[in-house]
Amino acid sequence: MNVLVLGSGGREHALAWKLSQSSRVRNVFVAPGNAGTQIDAENVPIAETDFAELASFAKRNEVGLTIVGPEAPLVAGVVDYFRDQGLKIFGPNKAAAQLEGSKSFCKQTLRSADVPTADYRVFREADAAARYIKDRFPHEGEDVNVVVKADGLAAGKGVTVCDTAEEALEAIDQIGRQRVFGDAGAQIIIEERLDGEEASVLAITDGKTILTLPPAQDHKPAYDDDQGPNTGGMGAYSPTPLVTPQVMQMVEEKVLVPTVHGMKRARNPFQGVLYAGLMMTNQGPKVLEYNVRFGDPECQPILMRLKSDLVDILEACAVGDLESIDPPEWDTRPAVCVVMASEGYPGSYEKGKPIRGLEEATKLEDVKVFHAGTTTSGDQVVTNGGRVLGVTAIGDTISAAKLKAYTAVKCIRWDGAWCRKDISDKALRHS
Ligand code: AMP
Ligand code: GLY
Repeated sequence: MNVLVLGSGGREHALAWKLSQSSRVRNVFVAPGNAGTQIDAENVPIAETDFAELASFAKRNEVGLTIVGPEAPLVAGVVDYFRDQGLKIFGPNKAAAQLEGSKSFCKQTLRSADVPTADYRVFREADAAARYIKDRFPHEGEDVNVVVKADGLAAGKGVTVCDTAEEALEAIDQIGRQRVFGDAGAQIIIEERLDGEEASVLAITDGKTILTLPPAQDHKPAYDDDQGPNTGGMGAYSPTPLVTPQVMQMVEEKVLVPTVHGMKRARNPFQGVLYAGLMMTNQGPKVLEYNVRFGDPECQPILMRLKSDLVDILEACAVGDLESIDPPEWDTRPAVCVVMASEGYPGSYEKGKPIRGLEEATKLEDVKVFHAGTTTSGDQVVTNGGRVLGVTAIGDTISAAKLKAYTAVKCIRWDGAWCRKDISDKALRHS
Protein backbone atom coordinates (compact mmCIF):
# COMPACT_ATOMS: atom_id res chain seq x y z
CA MET A 1 0.00 0.00 0.00
CA ASN A 2 0.92 3.67 -0.13
CA VAL A 3 1.20 5.70 3.06
CA LEU A 4 1.17 9.43 3.70
CA VAL A 5 2.93 11.11 6.64
CA LEU A 6 1.84 14.65 7.59
CA GLY A 7 4.50 17.03 8.91
CA SER A 8 8.05 18.18 8.22
CA GLY A 9 10.20 17.58 11.31
CA GLY A 10 12.62 14.99 12.64
CA ARG A 11 9.77 12.87 13.96
CA GLU A 12 8.20 12.73 10.50
CA HIS A 13 11.54 11.78 8.90
CA ALA A 14 11.88 8.94 11.42
CA LEU A 15 8.31 7.77 10.71
CA ALA A 16 8.83 7.92 6.92
CA TRP A 17 12.19 6.10 7.18
CA LYS A 18 10.72 3.30 9.29
CA LEU A 19 7.57 2.97 7.16
CA SER A 20 9.69 2.77 4.00
CA GLN A 21 11.30 -0.41 5.38
CA SER A 22 7.97 -2.26 5.41
CA SER A 23 7.55 -4.96 2.76
CA ARG A 24 3.86 -4.01 2.66
CA VAL A 25 4.55 -0.39 1.72
CA ARG A 26 5.11 0.68 -1.88
CA ASN A 27 5.33 4.49 -1.65
CA VAL A 28 5.80 6.71 1.38
CA PHE A 29 4.65 10.28 0.78
CA VAL A 30 5.44 13.09 3.22
CA ALA A 31 3.49 16.37 3.16
CA PRO A 32 5.27 18.75 3.14
CA GLY A 33 8.46 16.97 4.38
CA ASN A 34 12.08 18.17 4.43
CA ALA A 35 15.34 17.47 2.59
CA GLY A 36 15.74 14.16 4.46
CA THR A 37 12.25 12.80 3.80
CA GLN A 38 12.89 13.52 0.11
CA ILE A 39 15.71 10.95 0.26
CA ASP A 40 13.89 8.16 2.17
CA ALA A 41 10.43 8.93 0.77
CA GLU A 42 8.70 11.34 -1.61
CA ASN A 43 7.74 14.87 -0.64
CA VAL A 44 4.37 16.32 -1.55
CA PRO A 45 4.12 20.13 -1.49
CA ILE A 46 0.89 20.38 0.53
CA ALA A 47 0.78 22.06 3.94
CA GLU A 48 -0.24 19.78 6.82
CA THR A 49 -3.12 22.18 7.54
CA ASP A 50 -4.70 21.96 4.06
CA PHE A 51 -7.05 19.04 4.77
CA ALA A 52 -8.98 19.24 1.48
CA GLU A 53 -5.83 19.06 -0.65
CA LEU A 54 -4.36 16.30 1.53
CA ALA A 55 -7.50 14.16 1.33
CA SER A 56 -7.72 14.69 -2.40
CA PHE A 57 -4.06 13.67 -2.78
CA ALA A 58 -4.66 10.58 -0.62
CA LYS A 59 -7.56 9.49 -2.85
CA ARG A 60 -5.76 10.13 -6.13
CA ASN A 61 -2.67 8.23 -4.97
CA GLU A 62 -4.37 5.24 -3.35
CA VAL A 63 -3.03 6.07 0.10
CA GLY A 64 -4.07 3.21 2.38
CA LEU A 65 -3.02 4.89 5.64
CA THR A 66 -2.23 8.46 6.65
CA ILE A 67 -0.11 9.11 9.75
CA VAL A 68 -0.28 12.50 11.44
CA GLY A 69 2.99 13.76 12.93
CA PRO A 70 2.28 17.07 14.72
CA GLU A 71 -0.48 18.09 17.12
CA ALA A 72 -1.91 21.12 15.28
CA PRO A 73 -3.73 19.20 12.50
CA LEU A 74 -5.01 16.65 15.06
CA VAL A 75 -6.43 19.37 17.29
CA ALA A 76 -7.91 21.03 14.18
CA GLY A 77 -9.73 17.79 13.25
CA VAL A 78 -7.76 16.23 10.37
CA VAL A 79 -8.72 12.73 11.55
CA ASP A 80 -12.45 13.54 11.51
CA TYR A 81 -12.06 15.10 8.04
CA PHE A 82 -10.28 12.07 6.57
CA ARG A 83 -12.63 9.53 8.19
CA ASP A 84 -15.69 11.39 6.86
CA GLN A 85 -14.27 10.78 3.41
CA GLY A 86 -13.67 7.11 4.05
CA LEU A 87 -9.88 7.48 4.37
CA LYS A 88 -7.90 5.45 6.93
CA ILE A 89 -5.86 7.65 9.25
CA PHE A 90 -3.77 7.12 12.40
CA GLY A 91 -4.31 9.58 15.25
CA PRO A 92 -6.98 10.81 17.67
CA ASN A 93 -10.05 12.66 16.44
CA LYS A 94 -10.62 16.30 17.29
CA ALA A 95 -12.49 15.60 20.53
CA ALA A 96 -9.86 13.20 21.87
CA ALA A 97 -6.99 15.47 20.74
CA GLN A 98 -8.26 17.94 23.36
CA LEU A 99 -6.05 16.00 25.78
CA GLU A 100 -3.21 18.06 24.28
CA GLY A 101 -5.23 20.94 22.81
CA SER A 102 -6.66 22.06 26.16
CA LYS A 103 -4.71 21.76 29.38
CA SER A 104 -7.90 22.31 31.43
CA PHE A 105 -9.55 19.40 29.58
CA CYS A 106 -6.45 17.29 30.25
CA LYS A 107 -6.36 18.14 33.96
CA GLN A 108 -10.11 17.47 34.30
CA THR A 109 -9.67 14.08 32.61
CA LEU A 110 -6.75 13.24 34.90
CA ARG A 111 -8.66 14.30 37.99
CA SER A 112 -11.80 12.32 37.05
CA ALA A 113 -9.72 9.22 36.36
CA ASP A 114 -7.75 9.65 39.59
CA VAL A 115 -4.42 9.80 37.74
CA PRO A 116 -1.53 11.30 39.77
CA THR A 117 -0.88 14.89 38.64
CA ALA A 118 -0.14 18.31 40.18
CA ASP A 119 -2.99 20.11 41.99
CA TYR A 120 -4.40 22.92 39.88
CA ARG A 121 -6.95 25.70 39.46
CA VAL A 122 -8.43 27.03 36.22
CA PHE A 123 -9.20 30.75 35.71
CA ARG A 124 -11.14 32.45 32.93
CA GLU A 125 -10.13 35.95 34.07
CA ALA A 126 -6.57 37.22 34.46
CA ASP A 127 -7.72 39.37 37.41
CA ALA A 128 -9.00 36.36 39.31
CA ALA A 129 -5.80 34.44 38.60
CA ALA A 130 -3.68 37.38 39.79
CA ARG A 131 -5.78 37.73 42.96
CA TYR A 132 -5.28 34.04 43.68
CA ILE A 133 -1.49 34.44 43.46
CA LYS A 134 -1.50 37.56 45.66
CA ASP A 135 -3.72 35.90 48.29
CA ARG A 136 -1.70 32.73 48.34
CA PHE A 137 1.70 34.43 48.45
CA PRO A 138 1.15 37.70 50.37
CA HIS A 139 4.74 38.17 51.56
CA GLU A 140 7.38 39.86 49.47
CA GLY A 141 10.25 37.57 48.43
CA GLU A 142 8.27 34.50 49.46
CA ASP A 143 9.12 31.23 47.70
CA VAL A 144 6.52 30.54 45.06
CA ASN A 145 5.98 26.99 43.87
CA VAL A 146 3.56 27.36 41.01
CA VAL A 147 3.47 26.87 37.25
CA VAL A 148 1.34 29.14 35.06
CA LYS A 149 0.03 27.72 31.78
CA ALA A 150 -2.02 28.91 28.84
CA ASP A 151 -4.87 26.47 28.22
CA GLY A 152 -4.43 25.96 24.48
CA LEU A 153 -1.63 25.15 22.03
CA ALA A 154 1.19 27.67 22.31
CA ALA A 155 4.00 25.95 20.38
CA GLY A 156 5.58 24.80 23.65
CA LYS A 157 5.88 28.37 24.95
CA GLY A 158 2.74 28.66 27.09
CA VAL A 159 4.26 27.30 30.33
CA THR A 160 6.13 29.35 32.97
CA VAL A 161 7.69 27.61 35.95
CA CYS A 162 7.76 30.37 38.57
CA ASP A 163 10.14 31.12 41.45
CA THR A 164 8.58 34.44 42.44
CA ALA A 165 5.08 35.94 42.61
CA GLU A 166 6.20 38.62 40.13
CA GLU A 167 7.03 35.96 37.56
CA ALA A 168 3.62 34.35 38.05
CA LEU A 169 1.82 37.71 37.73
CA GLU A 170 3.84 38.53 34.61
CA ALA A 171 2.93 35.16 33.03
CA ILE A 172 -0.75 35.72 33.88
CA ASP A 173 -0.60 39.17 32.30
CA GLN A 174 1.05 37.85 29.13
CA ILE A 175 -1.43 35.00 28.71
CA GLY A 176 -4.64 36.64 29.91
CA ARG A 177 -4.33 40.36 29.16
CA GLN A 178 -1.71 40.75 26.42
CA ARG A 179 -3.03 37.59 24.80
CA VAL A 180 0.40 36.72 23.40
CA PHE A 181 -0.92 33.22 22.63
CA GLY A 182 -4.24 34.49 21.25
CA ASP A 183 -7.25 32.30 22.07
CA ALA A 184 -4.96 29.71 23.61
CA GLY A 185 -4.97 32.09 26.59
CA ALA A 186 -8.75 32.13 27.07
CA GLN A 187 -8.17 30.08 30.23
CA ILE A 188 -5.20 30.15 32.60
CA ILE A 189 -4.10 27.13 34.60
CA ILE A 190 -2.15 27.60 37.80
CA GLU A 191 -0.70 24.41 39.17
CA GLU A 192 1.58 23.18 41.89
CA ARG A 193 5.23 22.91 40.86
CA LEU A 194 6.55 19.35 40.94
CA ASP A 195 10.18 18.42 41.49
CA GLY A 196 12.09 15.52 40.03
CA GLU A 197 13.42 14.16 36.75
CA GLU A 198 11.24 14.15 33.67
CA ALA A 199 10.64 11.15 31.43
CA SER A 200 8.40 10.35 28.48
CA VAL A 201 6.28 7.24 28.26
CA LEU A 202 4.51 6.82 24.93
CA ALA A 203 1.81 4.28 24.23
CA ILE A 204 -0.13 3.35 21.13
CA THR A 205 -3.78 2.65 21.86
CA ASP A 206 -6.91 2.01 19.85
CA GLY A 207 -9.05 3.00 22.83
CA LYS A 208 -9.17 -0.56 24.20
CA THR A 209 -5.74 -2.20 23.93
CA ILE A 210 -2.65 -0.32 25.11
CA LEU A 211 0.77 -1.01 23.64
CA THR A 212 3.40 0.76 25.73
CA LEU A 213 6.62 1.78 23.99
CA PRO A 214 10.01 1.74 25.76
CA PRO A 215 10.49 4.82 27.98
CA ALA A 216 12.52 7.77 26.73
CA GLN A 217 13.98 10.97 28.11
CA ASP A 218 13.98 14.32 26.32
CA HIS A 219 16.29 17.30 27.08
CA LYS A 220 14.15 20.44 26.89
CA PRO A 221 16.47 23.22 28.14
CA ALA A 222 18.77 24.61 25.45
CA TYR A 223 22.16 24.19 27.12
CA ASP A 224 24.19 21.55 28.97
CA ASP A 225 23.17 20.71 32.52
CA ASP A 226 19.62 21.81 31.75
CA GLN A 227 20.55 25.49 31.64
CA GLY A 228 19.03 28.16 29.44
CA PRO A 229 15.66 28.66 27.78
CA ASN A 230 13.16 25.91 27.00
CA THR A 231 13.22 24.38 23.51
CA GLY A 232 11.24 21.80 21.56
CA GLY A 233 13.80 19.22 22.74
CA MET A 234 17.58 19.14 22.19
CA GLY A 235 18.02 15.37 22.26
CA ALA A 236 16.56 12.13 23.58
CA TYR A 237 17.49 8.55 24.30
CA SER A 238 15.66 5.31 24.90
CA PRO A 239 15.29 3.25 26.97
CA THR A 240 15.95 5.32 30.08
CA PRO A 241 16.97 3.61 33.35
CA LEU A 242 15.00 6.34 35.12
CA VAL A 243 11.87 4.40 34.36
CA THR A 244 12.53 0.97 35.83
CA PRO A 245 10.26 -1.97 34.95
CA GLN A 246 8.49 -1.38 38.30
CA VAL A 247 7.90 2.29 37.54
CA MET A 248 6.74 1.36 34.05
CA GLN A 249 4.18 -0.99 35.56
CA MET A 250 3.01 1.82 37.84
CA VAL A 251 2.70 4.16 34.84
CA GLU A 252 0.63 1.58 33.00
CA GLU A 253 -1.65 0.83 35.95
CA LYS A 254 -2.04 4.28 37.45
CA VAL A 255 -1.68 6.52 34.40
CA LEU A 256 -2.30 4.92 31.01
CA VAL A 257 -5.04 2.42 31.81
CA PRO A 258 -7.23 4.83 33.84
CA THR A 259 -6.80 7.56 31.20
CA VAL A 260 -7.75 5.32 28.28
CA HIS A 261 -10.70 3.91 30.24
CA GLY A 262 -11.73 7.37 31.41
CA MET A 263 -11.81 8.64 27.83
CA LYS A 264 -13.83 5.61 26.74
CA ARG A 265 -16.30 6.04 29.62
CA ALA A 266 -16.73 9.69 28.64
CA ARG A 267 -17.68 8.46 25.13
CA ASN A 268 -14.57 10.11 23.79
CA PRO A 269 -12.34 7.12 23.06
CA PHE A 270 -8.68 7.84 22.37
CA GLN A 271 -7.00 6.29 19.36
CA GLY A 272 -3.39 7.07 18.42
CA VAL A 273 -0.25 7.88 20.40
CA LEU A 274 -0.84 8.77 24.01
CA TYR A 275 2.36 10.43 25.21
CA ALA A 276 2.61 10.96 28.95
CA GLY A 277 5.10 13.65 29.99
CA LEU A 278 5.96 12.49 33.52
CA MET A 279 7.71 13.93 36.54
CA MET A 280 9.37 11.28 38.69
CA THR A 281 8.53 12.74 42.10
CA ASN A 282 9.38 11.13 45.42
CA GLN A 283 5.70 10.15 45.58
CA GLY A 284 6.02 8.29 42.28
CA PRO A 285 5.41 9.33 38.67
CA LYS A 286 2.96 12.17 38.08
CA VAL A 287 1.62 13.42 34.75
CA LEU A 288 2.83 16.88 33.69
CA GLU A 289 0.96 16.80 30.41
CA TYR A 290 -0.39 14.57 27.71
CA ASN A 291 0.59 14.88 24.08
CA VAL A 292 -1.48 13.12 21.46
CA ARG A 293 1.29 12.25 18.98
CA PHE A 294 4.83 10.91 18.90
CA GLY A 295 7.35 13.04 20.78
CA ASP A 296 9.98 14.90 18.81
CA PRO A 297 12.85 13.97 19.34
CA GLU A 298 11.77 10.89 21.39
CA CYS A 299 10.35 9.28 18.24
CA GLN A 300 13.77 9.12 16.60
CA PRO A 301 15.60 6.85 19.12
CA ILE A 302 12.44 4.83 19.80
CA LEU A 303 11.86 4.01 16.12
CA MET A 304 15.54 3.28 15.55
CA ARG A 305 15.10 0.39 18.02
CA LEU A 306 11.85 -0.98 16.58
CA LYS A 307 12.37 -4.26 14.73
CA SER A 308 8.72 -4.99 13.90
CA ASP A 309 6.81 -3.55 10.96
CA LEU A 310 5.51 -0.12 11.97
CA VAL A 311 2.75 -0.10 9.40
CA ASP A 312 1.16 -3.24 10.92
CA ILE A 313 0.99 -1.53 14.31
CA LEU A 314 -0.32 1.83 13.11
CA GLU A 315 -2.88 0.28 10.77
CA ALA A 316 -4.21 -2.09 13.45
CA CYS A 317 -4.54 0.89 15.77
CA ALA A 318 -6.33 2.99 13.15
CA VAL A 319 -8.95 0.28 12.57
CA GLY A 320 -9.39 -0.51 16.28
CA ASP A 321 -7.78 -3.94 16.14
CA LEU A 322 -4.59 -3.49 18.13
CA GLU A 323 -5.49 -6.63 20.09
CA SER A 324 -4.63 -8.77 17.05
CA ILE A 325 -1.02 -7.56 16.89
CA ASP A 326 1.93 -9.50 18.33
CA PRO A 327 3.91 -7.45 20.84
CA PRO A 328 6.51 -5.47 18.87
CA GLU A 329 10.11 -6.60 18.88
CA TRP A 330 12.76 -4.15 20.06
CA ASP A 331 16.49 -4.02 19.53
CA THR A 332 17.83 -4.49 23.06
CA ARG A 333 20.51 -1.87 22.38
CA PRO A 334 19.81 1.73 23.45
CA ALA A 335 19.64 4.63 20.98
CA VAL A 336 20.64 8.26 21.46
CA CYS A 337 19.51 11.25 19.35
CA VAL A 338 21.45 14.53 19.44
CA VAL A 339 19.70 17.57 17.97
CA MET A 340 21.86 20.01 15.99
CA ALA A 341 20.37 23.51 15.99
CA SER A 342 20.71 26.88 14.26
CA GLU A 343 22.57 29.73 15.93
CA GLY A 344 20.04 31.77 17.94
CA TYR A 345 17.51 28.96 18.48
CA PRO A 346 15.15 28.91 20.46
CA GLY A 347 15.16 32.65 19.73
CA SER A 348 15.34 34.03 16.21
CA TYR A 349 17.77 32.49 13.74
CA GLU A 350 18.74 32.72 10.09
CA LYS A 351 17.87 30.08 7.52
CA GLY A 352 19.50 28.94 4.29
CA LYS A 353 22.95 27.97 5.64
CA PRO A 354 24.55 25.22 3.51
CA ILE A 355 25.07 22.00 5.51
CA ARG A 356 28.27 20.03 4.85
CA GLY A 357 29.43 16.57 5.89
CA LEU A 358 26.07 14.78 5.68
CA GLU A 359 27.44 12.06 3.36
CA GLU A 360 30.36 11.39 5.69
CA ALA A 361 28.03 11.08 8.71
CA THR A 362 25.61 8.87 6.81
CA LYS A 363 28.39 6.36 6.05
CA LEU A 364 28.98 5.64 9.75
CA GLU A 365 27.65 2.33 11.00
CA ASP A 366 24.62 2.30 13.36
CA VAL A 367 23.96 5.99 12.68
CA LYS A 368 20.96 7.64 11.05
CA VAL A 369 20.81 11.37 10.46
CA PHE A 370 17.17 12.45 10.68
CA HIS A 371 16.45 15.80 9.11
CA ALA A 372 14.17 18.34 10.80
CA GLY A 373 14.56 21.98 9.67
CA THR A 374 16.20 21.35 6.30
CA THR A 375 15.36 22.03 2.68
CA THR A 376 17.20 21.95 -0.62
CA SER A 377 18.56 24.86 -2.59
CA GLY A 378 19.74 23.60 -5.96
CA ASP A 379 21.57 20.40 -5.08
CA GLN A 380 22.63 21.72 -1.69
CA VAL A 381 20.95 20.83 1.63
CA VAL A 382 20.43 24.04 3.64
CA THR A 383 19.05 24.90 7.07
CA ASN A 384 15.38 25.81 7.22
CA GLY A 385 14.47 25.79 10.92
CA GLY A 386 15.70 26.03 14.51
CA ARG A 387 16.14 22.32 15.14
CA VAL A 388 17.94 21.22 11.98
CA LEU A 389 19.03 17.58 12.40
CA GLY A 390 18.51 14.71 14.85
CA VAL A 391 21.70 12.68 14.67
CA THR A 392 20.75 9.27 16.05
CA ALA A 393 22.88 6.22 16.84
CA ILE A 394 22.38 2.81 18.38
CA GLY A 395 25.05 1.06 20.47
CA ASP A 396 25.66 -1.73 22.96
CA THR A 397 25.42 0.69 25.87
CA ILE A 398 24.07 4.21 26.25
CA SER A 399 27.66 5.51 26.37
CA ALA A 400 28.53 3.67 23.15
CA ALA A 401 25.42 5.02 21.39
CA LYS A 402 26.23 8.51 22.66
CA LEU A 403 29.81 8.28 21.38
CA LYS A 404 28.64 7.16 17.93
CA ALA A 405 26.05 9.94 17.74
CA TYR A 406 28.62 12.61 18.65
CA THR A 407 31.16 11.10 16.22
CA ALA A 408 28.56 11.65 13.48
CA VAL A 409 27.79 15.15 14.78
CA LYS A 410 31.49 16.01 14.35
CA CYS A 411 31.28 15.22 10.62
CA ILE A 412 28.51 17.78 10.08
CA ARG A 413 28.99 21.55 9.93
CA TRP A 414 27.29 24.73 8.94
CA ASP A 415 27.70 28.32 9.93
CA GLY A 416 26.41 28.61 13.53
CA ALA A 417 25.64 24.90 14.12
CA TRP A 418 25.54 23.85 17.78
CA CYS A 419 24.23 21.08 20.02
CA ARG A 420 24.14 20.05 23.66
CA LYS A 421 27.14 17.91 24.59
CA ASP A 422 25.50 15.97 27.42
CA ILE A 423 22.58 14.15 25.82
CA SER A 424 21.90 10.90 27.77
CA ASP A 425 24.32 11.72 30.63
CA LYS A 426 21.41 11.66 33.07
CA ALA A 427 21.07 7.95 32.35
CA LEU A 428 24.57 7.33 33.69
CA ARG A 429 23.67 8.93 37.02
CA HIS A 430 20.87 6.39 37.38
CA SER A 431 22.51 3.18 36.24
P1 AMP B 1 3.88 21.05 29.60
O1 AMP B 1 3.73 21.63 28.23
O2 AMP B 1 2.69 21.16 30.46
O3 AMP B 1 4.53 19.71 29.64
O4 AMP B 1 5.06 21.90 30.24
C1 AMP B 1 6.31 22.04 29.62
C2 AMP B 1 7.41 21.85 30.63
O5 AMP B 1 7.17 22.69 31.75
C3 AMP B 1 7.49 20.45 31.21
O6 AMP B 1 8.23 19.60 30.40
C4 AMP B 1 8.15 20.72 32.54
O7 AMP B 1 9.54 20.88 32.38
C5 AMP B 1 7.56 22.04 32.95
N1 AMP B 1 6.38 21.84 33.81
C6 AMP B 1 5.09 21.77 33.44
N2 AMP B 1 4.28 21.56 34.49
C7 AMP B 1 5.08 21.51 35.57
C8 AMP B 1 4.85 21.30 36.97
N3 AMP B 1 3.62 21.14 37.47
N4 AMP B 1 5.92 21.30 37.78
C9 AMP B 1 7.17 21.47 37.31
N5 AMP B 1 7.46 21.66 36.02
C10 AMP B 1 6.43 21.69 35.14
N1 GLY C 1 9.69 16.12 23.03
C1 GLY C 1 8.68 17.00 23.40
C2 GLY C 1 7.50 16.99 22.54
O1 GLY C 1 7.46 16.29 21.56
O2 GLY C 1 6.56 17.68 22.86
